[in-house]
Amino acid sequence: MSEHLTVVDHPLVQHKLTLMRDKATPTSEFRQLLREITLLLAYEITRELPMTTKTIDTPIEEMEAPAIAGKKMAVVSILRAGNGMLDGVLELVPSARVGFVGLYRDEETLQPVQYYFKVPEGLEDRLVIAVDPMLATGNSSAAAVDLLKEAGARDIRFLCLLAAPEGVERMRTAHPDVHIVTASVDKRLNEKGYIVPGLGDAGDRMFGTK
Ligand code: URA
Repeated sequence: MSEHLTVVDHPLVQHKLTLMRDKATPTSEFRQLLREITLLLAYEITRELPMTTKTIDTPIEEMEAPAIAGKKMAVVSILRAGNGMLDGVLELVPSARVGFVGLYRDEETLQPVQYYFKVPEGLEDRLVIAVDPMLATGNSSAAAVDLLKEAGARDIRFLCLLAAPEGVERMRTAHPDVHIVTASVDKRLNEKGYIVPGLGDAGDRMFGTK
């Protein structure tokens, strides 16, 4: 992929996103919607996978049929909210390996602090899809990508539900090679680092915490 950012404006994605933004949407529905949107976004992020052909027999005749060229994949959840996007990607790519990066945001400095890192072997040969619903300041996303690159990853894409312009810019500066796919780039961040208008705290809304 050559461009840095793709905003998926498909009607289904945008409709589901509106339901997720609505503060009246309950936890169970929020989780289900996130899974569904992620599946649609994952469809977009895998659009340019390298292809090959293989010989198969249809009931009618032999043909050279298109097939994915066998690039191995890893989905890496940026904890904890990233976990809400895992199922959507895995439904589309069941053979993907799964990794986890644990970073929390210091509420004072808004800087990421690492507490967990576990990723599949052979990251250098895999397409790595990092997932986190909210690309806000971009600090934890950029830090997560730093860690993935240190672990060997060379082809990383970033899948999020919502992005702030500040987060997109931070990622573009820190990791211009990482293509971002999202459902929306919202207006801005507020003074607490929340995306405006956003949908609130994605982790709290999907896990029913406060
Ligand atoms: N993380 C969230 O969950 N929501 C935001 O608006 C920003 C960061």
